[in-house]
Amino acid sequence: MTPEPFGLDRGLTDYGDPDFARYLRRSMARSMGISKDLLSKPVVGIAISPSGFNNCHRGMPELTEAVSRGVLAAGGLPRAFPTISLGEVFLSPTSMKFRNLMSIDVEEMVRAQPMDAVVLIGGCDKTVPAQLMGAASAGRPAIQLVTGPMMTGRHRGERLGACTDCRRFWAKHRAGEVDANEIAEVEGQLAVTAGTCSVMGTASTMACIAEALGMSLPGTAAIPAVHSARLVAAEETGKRAVQLAHIPITPDRIITEHSVENAFRLLMALGGSTNAVIHLTAIAGRLGIRVSAERLNEISDRTPVLVDLKPVGEGYMEDFYAAGGVGAVLRELRPLLHLDCLGVDGFTLRERLDEPAGWIDRSVIRSMAAPVSTVGGLVVLTGSLAPDGAIFKRAAATPSLFETEGRAVVFENLDDLSARIDDPDLDVAPDDVLVLKNAGPHGAGMPEAGYLPIPGKLARAGVKDMLRISDARMSGTAYGTIVLHVAPEAAVGGPLAVVRNGDRIALSVARKRLDLLVDDGEIRRRLQSWSPPPRPERGYASLYHDTVLQAPEGCDFDFLVGSRAKG
Ligand code: FES
Repeated sequence: MTPEPFGLDRGLTDYGDPDFARYLRRSMARSMGISKDLLSKPVVGIAISPSGFNNCHRGMPELTEAVSRGVLAAGGLPRAFPTISLGEVFLSPTSMKFRNLMSIDVEEMVRAQPMDAVVLIGGCDKTVPAQLMGAASAGRPAIQLVTGPMMTGRHRGERLGACTDCRRFWAKHRAGEVDANEIAEVEGQLAVTAGTCSVMGTASTMACIAEALGMSLPGTAAIPAVHSARLVAAEETGKRAVQLAHIPITPDRIITEHSVENAFRLLMALGGSTNAVIHLTAIAGRLGIRVSAERLNEISDRTPVLVDLKPVGEGYMEDFYAAGGVGAVLRELRPLLHLDCLGVDGFTLRERLDEPAGWIDRSVIRSMAAPVSTVGGLVVLTGSLAPDGAIFKRAAATPSLFETEGRAVVFENLDDLSARIDDPDLDVAPDDVLVLKNAGPHGAGMPEAGYLPIPGKLARAGVKDMLRISDARMSGTAYGTIVLHVAPEAAVGGPLAVVRNGDRIALSVARKRLDLLVDDGEIRRRLQSWSPPPRPERGYASLYHDTVLQAPEGCDFDFLVGSRAKG
């Protein structure tokens, strides 16, 4: 059998003459000042995405240098290469619309360029999911390194971190409790260092999930972006990538049904982001793995929330790191985990967890005997308003609203919401249910608009929370009694499309139900006169519209699911 090509000989450019292709490639590589000796080494690609539009990736050049140092020390040739960069707050209409595009970029560049293994450096919300989706499909040995979370800032003696405190202060500003001068002061203290948002938002949740899956080195998810230990982790990651090039452990050996269940289990114990359900579903979907809504609810009902961080609790990611990080949580969850799962470090989870735990701060990472809450952070709801499911973050909601029936106050789309939410004449009361339509994947690219603001006149009257329902997503840093990801979404003709002002809606968290209390026949009649919004005419928007799947399928493109590339 012919051995698989290695290093720079891998995946030759097609001139119809392989020897010429090799000769030309070496020649061009030598123009970069690389010695002949180094050109014969295993090649480790380093996928990077620094950008003037991505604050979370500001530390990436230093991390790239540290990974390269590790690769060189282990006898490999490091080669950094760019992919597109998704800076959460700089993208319109939402970074979610471009996650799949980045995943395609990662997959194709990993496969098209000659690398024996790849280090994926990622941080901001959609980056780690896109990289893991791409790596799972590319089928090359891969190892994730995250940029790490930001440190907190200070405001009048109080610690602040993006972006739970961004929302908290903005809500106070809307309610007239914080004036324009103070909100301007706060703005300068929310995001004060390089790195990702400093609470257990989507970026931090996905960093922890990457570690729980086994795709990152143990202990690396929570190290702050500016901590020297992050550079050491980067160096170690580079060294390990060279070993992976020699003993190829590909992502399909690490991301398995069991490790995906472990990751969902960790997500529940973290009280992590609702977005992680979509992202983990998409990552698993690339390898044909599906976790049903029933299984997700079983996992949630049997997994306590153990981590006391914002937005569910009190602390920040710097506290989580100091408290023991992902390893401490996994050790607590050990009886509930599949321990046979292999990690990029070459060890099983059992072997990793057999290592001594070290000191654990129990005020941040609780024991199973004294959890933050006895059940997991997220539940899947189904019912006549969400036949294919919806997500509810019970850990960040108001328990007195868990069993609610109320009158719908409907916003047809995002423009309608922003035009009317603060209208003093809006017919709305505190026990109503705010409903936003056409903010799902087809309707609007699924922005983080599910955290509907409390209508201005109610906010000023002191209302802090009310039931809000949409087909949108919500930032992992947000909180409230909010039902998200309603599927099928309004823009494809789900029942959400025909909810009208004044309809009654019932939420029951105990029964995991979300129902539109309108006769089935009437829903059918309304749907017969419904018509879909127009299809975008060209470019990526039309590809997205035609191929994006619904939230319960991870919002991946239909042609990428379950497909692993050859070669
Ligand atoms: Fe990048 Fe929050 S803006 S993680």
